[in-house]
Amino acid sequence: MAILDILTYPDSRLREYAEEIDNFSSPELQQLIDDLLETMAALPACVGVAAPQAGYSLRLLVIDCGNGRKPPAQHHGQLVVINPDILHWSGTDIGREGCLSLPDYTGNVVRAQSIRVRFQDRHGQEQTLELEGFEARVMQHEIDHLDGRLFTDRIVSRKTDLFQRKNRL
Ligand code: NI
Repeated sequence: MAILDILTYPDSRLREYAEEIDNFSSPELQQLIDDLLETMAALPACVGVAAPQAGYSLRLLVIDCGNGRKPPAQHHGQLVVINPDILHWSGTDIGREGCLSLPDYTGNVVRAQSIRVRFQDRHGQEQTLELEGFEARVMQHEIDHLDGRLFTDRIVSRKTDLFQRKNRL
């Protein structure tokens, strides 16, 4: 187990389209999943990390909304999400986001209020979940990382919707 270093903007590896995973029995993959989980748990209020943020161009992310400062009433706890596909979006909601790869900023981002997402777990088993609110937002943010997208790409106005953090964690 290891806590991984997180790449920060403008590292070009954050801009790559990450690769699908097909070998679930690979010890390296299982180790990377454990390291991502350990990294998320070790960072204060961290609710998600995507593999590309640690320099691995793979369609893998972990989320845990229970690790946040104000955990939502309903969430699925720790999820290991591989090769995700959003099947359905509904509603829209604006909310404040931050990112380990952009440590100095937060921003107001419009996301779907609820989503249905299909993915494979760490053993390659297919799962489909309905996510809402904050957890749906976190999933959409992390899936963006797999496509080389950062939350600042989705901000409408840098003048009114991007904020410099006063206190670094
Ligand atoms: Ni992020």
